[in-house]
Amino acid sequence: MYPASRVPHVEHALCVENATKMFRQHGTRNWLVRLRGATNGSKKRAPVVAVNNLSMHVQRGEIFGVLGPNGSGKSTLVRLIATLLIPDSGTITVFGHDVQREEMVVKRMINRVSVDAAFFKKLSPMENLLYAARLYGVNARQARQQALTILARLGIKERDVYMPLEDMSRGMQQKVAIARAFLSSPILLLLDEPTTGLDPRSKREVQAFVRELREKHEATILLTTHDMNEAEALCDRIAILDEGRIVALDTPAGLKRLVPQADGHEPTLEDVFMALTGKALVEDEE
Ligand SMILES: Nc1ncnc2c1ncn2[C@@H]1O[C@H](COP(=O)(O)OP(=O)(O)OP(=O)(O)O)[C@@H](O)[C@H]1O
Ligand SMILES: [Mg+2]
Repeated sequence: MYPASRVPHVEHALCVENATKMFRQHGTRNWLVRLRGATNGSKKRAPVVAVNNLSMHVQRGEIFGVLGPNGSGKSTLVRLIATLLIPDSGTITVFGHDVQREEMVVKRMINRVSVDAAFFKKLSPMENLLYAARLYGVNARQARQQALTILARLGIKERDVYMPLEDMSRGMQQKVAIARAFLSSPILLLLDEPTTGLDPRSKREVQAFVRELREKHEATILLTTHDMNEAEALCDRIAILDEGRIVALDTPAGLKRLVPQADGHEPTLEDVFMALTGKALVEDEE
């Protein structure tokens, strides 16, 4: 656990300056050729610019949302911040620490929840959580008690706390990932679609945890979601991404002002999303 007293006194929890991340695509769609590492003489596909010269600043204690269509670069952005990917250009700092030069310092300040969370699948949720607690320097007895409380609130029954993780449903495994993140009390929590696939009660409980983490532990939270209601209910500000670029960044109310009222009704966040994203795709197809 990163002691709150050691949180650097900088204005921004997160600064992303002109970050770009490209992925080289395989030159062929033939999986057998790809597997052999050959290109089959086919033309090289253009690299995908997943994050394109993106800049944004997240304030301390903010709950900051990132919305965008599938493939718009949200998870890539989260992975860059989490030190799991190296940007091709640009800089990213977490509480003033550079993610590339001070990777280990940054790693101790953050925790990431995503659908591809890494676990020891043969071990139980409790074993996984106690292992994580140890890494983060949380006292084992305290961690066990906290883990039980968090898992119970997320609807994991006590008998399931000790069964192998690989035997649990996808949603249950995701709850364990969420429990792990809350247990370590990160000062910057990166939540990549934390509530996708969760039942409505668990969803609400995760949202309550997010608020609690900010209020009790002064954490800063970056959250991606496809649930517009969730974004509106939780986020102080929201960035909307399209093709790796930020197309709008404002409070939920500010974003809604960008779109004209339809039939006298106030636009919803979904209207904003529809108006601002997917344009390039439609133009390409024409
Ligand atoms: N490891 C990778 N190798 C090659 N291309 C990748 C890789 N990871 C992401 N991409 C590409 O980068 C782009 C952005 O992907 P990313 O996963 O960041 O999107 P996303 O906004 O998180 O989408 P979703 O809403 O579906 O989760 C996509 O075109 C994707 O194909
Ligand atoms: Mg994603």
